[in-house]
Amino acid sequence: MTFQGMDIVSIRDLSREQIEQVLERSERMIPYARGEKSSKALDGKILATLFFEPSTRTRMSFESAMMRLGGRITDLGVPSMSSISKGESLADTIRMVEVYSDIIVIRHPREGAARLAARFSSKPVINAGDGAGQHPTQTLLDLFTIRRIKKDFSKLNVVMVGDLKYGRTVHSLAEALSSFGADLTFVAPTALQMPKETVKQVEKAGGKPKLTNHLEETIADADVLYVTRIQKERFPDLAEYQKVAGMYRVDKKLLREAKSDLIVMHPLPRVDEIDPEVDDTPHAKYFEQAFNGVPVRMALLNLVLGGEL
Ligand code: CP
Repeated sequence: MTFQGMDIVSIRDLSREQIEQVLERSERMIPYARGEKSSKALDGKILATLFFEPSTRTRMSFESAMMRLGGRITDLGVPSMSSISKGESLADTIRMVEVYSDIIVIRHPREGAARLAARFSSKPVINAGDGAGQHPTQTLLDLFTIRRIKKDFSKLNVVMVGDLKYGRTVHSLAEALSSFGADLTFVAPTALQMPKETVKQVEKAGGKPKLTNHLEETIADADVLYVTRIQKERFPDLAEYQKVAGMYRVDKKLLREAKSDLIVMHPLPRVDEIDPEVDDTPHAKYFEQAFNGVPVRMALLNLVLGGEL
């Protein structure tokens, strides 16, 4: 069950035991992530970040995680200012980055790019999101957030709403939650429903997901409401985006029908799918969720790089 040197490209790369191990270690990282304790566990190690798509949380929480463990960071910067603009391939870029660092974090608009990077790197590669594919470290921090609040996954009723087709965070999360015994409901416009491949994986893990267009019908029984943004940037046709934009909005009126301990999560950024009036309710957990990216990524970096903590 060793993590050392592992690539984390898909949540399927991790066994259930390994996921448990990350969650346990993440708990231990909390005081370090908050700056209440300090560590030099990754002193001398260098993390390389390559972001070919915008990011706030994933990039900054990886950077913060590495620095909180005493490590350092080198960044490709804006891809147009790197030698990629001279025609260098992703494979050659990775061959270079691996000799300058000990671990690579990559976000890329093309599905499969992180897997390709892992093939060309002898150093561990972590997928920070590949197109509409996977975002495994988001899944780990989502699982961590749910378990910290709800204690257990089994029999939890988790409703996922929004863009389930292009929203990569829900693909890995749905697979993981079903393997932990949660019940899943997928709420989306028909054109943006969960991909068949993910539904199949959920069923293979023993789940019986419900699919619907109607959020109002699901809210009363939900324990976790996982909201996602409609991914405008992934629509080939803007007219198609406009047909579904603004279709779901979580506000206080909707939450009146909810259980008092329902938690509302969102990988962020949000646009208008959660009314800011929800932020001050006890349901809102999305900012806590974003903070949890630090201890979870600390745990993962520590395990993969073999740091002692
Ligand atoms: N949740 C998430 O991936 O956020 P960023 O796009 O800001 O990294």
